[in-house]
Amino acid sequence: MYVDSHCHLTFPELQGRIEAVRAEMAAARVDRALVICTTLEEFASVHALALRYDNFWASAGVHPDNEGVEEPTLERLLALAREPRVVAIGETGLDYYRLNGRSVADMAWQRERFRVHIRAARASQLPLVIHTRSASADTLDILREEQGGAAAGGPGGVFHCFTETAEVARAALDLGFMISFSGILTFRNAEDLREVARFVPLDRCLIETDSPYLAPVPYRGKTNSPAYVPHVAAQVAQVKGLSVEQVAEATSRNFERLFRLPQPETTP
Ligand code: NI
Repeated sequence: MYVDSHCHLTFPELQGRIEAVRAEMAAARVDRALVICTTLEEFASVHALALRYDNFWASAGVHPDNEGVEEPTLERLLALAREPRVVAIGETGLDYYRLNGRSVADMAWQRERFRVHIRAARASQLPLVIHTRSASADTLDILREEQGGAAAGGPGGVFHCFTETAEVARAALDLGFMISFSGILTFRNAEDLREVARFVPLDRCLIETDSPYLAPVPYRGKTNSPAYVPHVAAQVAQVKGLSVEQVAEATSRNFERLFRLPQPETTP
């Protein structure tokens, strides 16, 4: 019924308990998940989950926050994009939140890494999983320059764990991206974000956990799990005046459309 469009099952909090996570998912009717890669060093373990379980898929990419890791080349990303069950490039993007004493100008390496991912997504026609924090103007500019959006004939993709303003959401939608909401949407102080969720068209919404982080209310502060994504769906449903079933159905169809996956034969 539900899909978690973004989780990190190879992070230490979850990696040792995959079978328990899968049992929790089944009990919560979370049928499918996209397991996200954040370093090339991590790719093999992310990919192994997608190869082992037919309701997991994998992405390939290097998160903008990761330094001191192998730098992805276009060729390397394209090789990973050709692997079976790899359905997305990312997560990639820009993050100026932790500059650690550097200036935005010093982050040229991050912008170049982002461009390499967009070029890989264009060449492979796999959608992008975008992370942006304190950097939305540059994120949007680079996506325009590199023609990453579906509206420009690019692969499109999703702005994951969306926490930006309505203006940024509009710009991302105009470029042809989907918007994914996480457990942050359930936080008491997230009224502005709930306003954004109210206007993002249902056929452009995804839901995610970003587990093991950002557990939704009532699990806030605990280790997150894909099994908690129904709490995000319920919050989207509430702000849009829909049933949770409608949100589960729409976000599942959106997930299939974006990542070009078949609709499951038995949809509860
Ligand atoms: Ni993530």
